Amino acid sequence: MYSLKSQKKNYCYLRKNLIFLIIFILFSCVTIYYVNLRDVSAGPPYIMHSAHRSNVNNLSCHYDDEGDVLPWAEGPNFSPKFNSIFFHETSCRGGLNSRQACSIESAARAHPRRQIYVLFSGPIMKLVYQRSCIAKLRLLPNVHFARVHIEEYAKNTPLDGLVASNEFKESKWRIEHTSDVLRYLTLYKWGGVYLDTDIMVVKSLTPLGHNWVAKEDNGLVNAAAIAISMDHLGRRLAKTIVNEVKTTYRPDVFIHNGPGAITRVLHHMCNKSDPNEWSANTCQGLEVYGPEYFYPVHYTRNNDYFKPGTLRNVANAYTHHLWNKITYNTTIEKDSPYEKMAQQLCPLIYEMYGDEFGI
Ligand SMILES: *[C@@H]1O[C@H](CO)[C@@H](O)[C@H](O)[C@H]1NC(C)=O
Ligand SMILES: *[C@@H]1O[C@H](CO)[C@@H](O)[C@H](O)[C@H]1NC(C)=O
Ligand SMILES: *[C@@H]1O[C@H](CO)[C@@H](O)[C@H](O)[C@H]1NC(C)=O
Repeated sequence: MYSLKSQKKNYCYLRKNLIFLIIFILFSCVTIYYVNLRDVSAGPPYIMHSAHRSNVNNLSCHYDDEGDVLPWAEGPNFSPKFNSIFFHETSCRGGLNSRQACSIESAARAHPRRQIYVLFSGPIMKLVYQRSCIAKLRLLPNVHFARVHIEEYAKNTPLDGLVASNEFKESKWRIEHTSDVLRYLTLYKWGGVYLDTDIMVVKSLTPLGHNWVAKEDNGLVNAAAIAISMDHLGRRLAKTIVNEVKTTYRPDVFIHNGPGAITRVLHHMCNKSDPNEWSANTCQGLEVYGPEYFYPVHYTRNNDYFKPGTLRNVANAYTHHLWNKITYNTTIEKDSPYEKMAQQLCPLIYEMYGDEFGI
């Protein structure tokens, strides 16, 4: 009798423990499920401001993979379609600000049938990928993001030695010179159009042809917008420009490797020494567009974009260059041309940021 009672008591303990164990396991499962599957996209938007400057010359992020969620731009899985449009972001700020995102949206909307590639030189974290303006841009079906590992990216190209050199890594303007080298490398590798992230696209660039450059003013070809295709002329131009960068790279002169390099190439390529006479007729078929196409407002008048009013003489513009290098801290005022363009050309980004657009 006594022993039977004791057994029953033991059995009760066992059952209690079992129930406790089951509850514990269930609780653990639910916790694990939440920790792993909770989507970081649920939460407040992650905002990156324009005046946010990364530590300017420390580009250690270019050699860092930690936390990166982007697919690689090296290897067989990355093969941009013919006629794609490329952007490069070479700072280490780890995302895009509203102005940059607006440029990318404007390019994507103006070219619904062309692919847009945004190539980052440093890692992009999951939080940024899922909650910043990058998440908005991912809603556009023709926008793609990838990560460039510069030394890997330059492998088997004429620029592999340069990008691994100390001269390159010790540039006085590392962000800009890396961007200069990468834009030419990308056009050499894939062909297409390259645009700076402070270029606002007003209308499709497709009617302009496959090989073109544009003058910023009468003497200088700017490299903020450039097209080099995979055809015969494009290949010749790509090889020449990459070779020019390789042999004349200067770490100490700001414009030498970007606008400088393409301007020097045109001096060799074109039959005329006066840049005013450069055109497809005198430059072996390469179109050389005037400032009114891509740089309709000279940088010395950059304020015209930021103050209320309307721009004059911009009917021929395919793009506007917002001169971010000097205007990144300028307030975009209400009813300014920049604000009106953003409303119209990048509605997703403009709506996301609201009053904080451009700050
Ligand atoms: C550059 O930045 C990285 C990461 O922020 C840091 O670990 C490294 O020490 C910095 N290097 C220099 C030379 O300041
Ligand atoms: C350049 O000029 C020379 C002589 O004027 C002419 O023979 C040649 O075809 C021109 N080349 C191009 C690409 O226009
Ligand atoms: C940028 O603007 C902010 C806020 O107006 C100001 O505090 C900061 O000093 C400015 N930076 C530069 C480099 O002008």
